[in-house]
Amino acid sequence: HTAGGAALDLAGTRVVVSAGGTREYLDPVRFIGNRSSGRQGYALARAAAVRGAEVTLVAANVTLPDPAGVEVRHVETTAELRDAVLEAAAAADAVVMAAAPADFRPAEASATKIKKSEDGSSPRIDLVQNPDILAGLVTHRPRPDTVVVGFAAETGDAAGSVMDHARAKLARKGCDLLVVNDVGGGAVFGSDDNEAVVLDRDGGAAPVPRGSKSALAHVVWDRVVALREAARP
Ligand code: CTP
Ligand code: CA
Repeated sequence: HTAGGAALDLAGTRVVVSAGGTREYLDPVRFIGNRSSGRQGYALARAAAVRGAEVTLVAANVTLPDPAGVEVRHVETTAELRDAVLEAAAAADAVVMAAAPADFRPAEASATKIKKSEDGSSPRIDLVQNPDILAGLVTHRPRPDTVVVGFAAETGDAAGSVMDHARAKLARKGCDLLVVNDVGGGAVFGSDDNEAVVLDRDGGAAPVPRGSKSALAHVVWDRVVALREAARP
């Protein structure tokens, strides 16, 4: 699926892609955020458009130029990301959650800038958990045949390997595909390259060799197309 010779195998389909990292504000100038650049999500949106899909890209704090031929909705917080994704997903054939939503937000955000106290003490910030957008899409699929794809950046630790964590996450989330990045080396963020394994709900694992985020994007859409074909009566 190289540019110029791309198959139009997503023509007539509507897809939603989320990208970037959400911010949760502590006060008007400060937030909790993460290192997602949005590059993989943008590559997914671009690849889907090239293959003929009608694409809505929900972008959280991404500074990349809007891809041509894609409807882009810019958001900041996880709540905004969720609203925009669910709205766009209502008529979608596939939803790919490449965004990194902040898992927690401050229990309350200050309307005014938090000031340092005179006595040198530090503020205590209570966090509450954000809703899981991907899990919500799985339990309330927009349509029974909507393909739901998640991404996971994992590191191996004492509790298990990258793949152990990824398999458990796929089972927990119940999505159709989970694209797994090993971020132990820190090489993925902001990079143009990516290396991944695509896990599917039936236990399959397809390694994708190190290559461009665009190449990985095309592999993901190949798998989405295959799942849709397999589901066709
Ligand atoms: N995700 C989501 N909503 C959230 C958190 C994550 O939709 N509030 C989606 C991400 O977009 C991604 C997938 O879930 O597609 C996996 O994200 P990840 O952060 O790896 O999963 P978590 O369940 O948050 O697990 P962890 O504790 O490892 O962060
Ligand atoms: Ca998370």
